[in-house]
Amino acid sequence: MTIERLRAHYGFGRMPFGRDLAPGMLHTTHAHAEAVARVGWCIDERALGVVTGEVGVGKTVAVRAAVAALDNSRYTTIYLGCPAVGARGLYTTIVTALGGVPRFHRCGLIPQAQDALIAEEDERGRRVVVILDEAHLLAADQLEGLRQLTNADMDSRSPMACLLVGQPTLRRRIKLGTFAALDQRIALRYAMPGMDQPETGTYIAHHLKLAGRSDTLFSDDAIGLIHQTSRGLPRAVNNLAVQALVAAYAANKNIVDESSARAALTEITAE
Ligand SMILES: Nc1ncnc2c1ncn2[C@@H]1O[C@H](COP(=O)(O)OP(=O)(O)OP(=O)(O)O)[C@@H](O)[C@H]1O
Ligand SMILES: [Mg+2]
Repeated sequence: MTIERLRAHYGFGRMPFGRDLAPGMLHTTHAHAEAVARVGWCIDERALGVVTGEVGVGKTVAVRAAVAALDNSRYTTIYLGCPAVGARGLYTTIVTALGGVPRFHRCGLIPQAQDALIAEEDERGRRVVVILDEAHLLAADQLEGLRQLTNADMDSRSPMACLLVGQPTLRRRIKLGTFAALDQRIALRYAMPGMDQPETGTYIAHHLKLAGRSDTLFSDDAIGLIHQTSRGLPRAVNNLAVQALVAAYAANKNIVDESSARAALTEITAE
């Protein structure tokens, strides 16, 4: 079965539940709005923030939305999507992103990164926002490196806003005694919750509307089952909803009912 035929069957202008959503196409769930607001505050305060949540809860989407709302002429955003670069990688990324050529020796690299951060603000009037995604994977030396970076000017001010984004283990990891110095600098902690059932319903409706269907396509019990199985995590909702659409199509139905949702669930949990 091709996506084309599925689209034609439901009369979708585009496939719903896709990953690439422009900032204006996002659904403002409670958790999303809360995360965006708090991240915005953290950036204003030039603070260190930690956003955690389960896989697929919408962390990256929310942080990117908060950053997309910033004035490009006043902020420089450095996004590290994969922290497996070592502490050195952290510094070199910052230096390179700010237009410098990283020094070879680490003892020279830390002050170079600090100077580059300060110069960006003092000389170019741009505040730097560093985002470390998948931060639960950060190694101990990177967390320590981060602390050193936020330590500029004898601690009197932080040279950047920094956001650590990752799975719930990140919170526990930073709580370990070894990172107490970093822990104390954290001004924002937000654990993003999944959606509740009514929200899962409006979330599904939102995606369907973007695809061109504003009428009821999923029955209430189908939504209930998808919500239960996904625990309100948007990515899991997307996957289940697409499979449910496929199942209803295969059964030649025009409505995604509970049995279609159940078939989707079997499909996904069998993998
Ligand atoms: N506010 C939203 N509006 C619409 N779709 C959303 C929203 N938030 C999340 N999604 C959907 O859920 C998917 C997962 O979101 P995201 O990638 O932000 O999760 P994550 O918490 O960063 O997951 P991971 O821990 O795997 O990195 C997105 O690709 C998108 O399709
Ligand atoms: Mg993510």
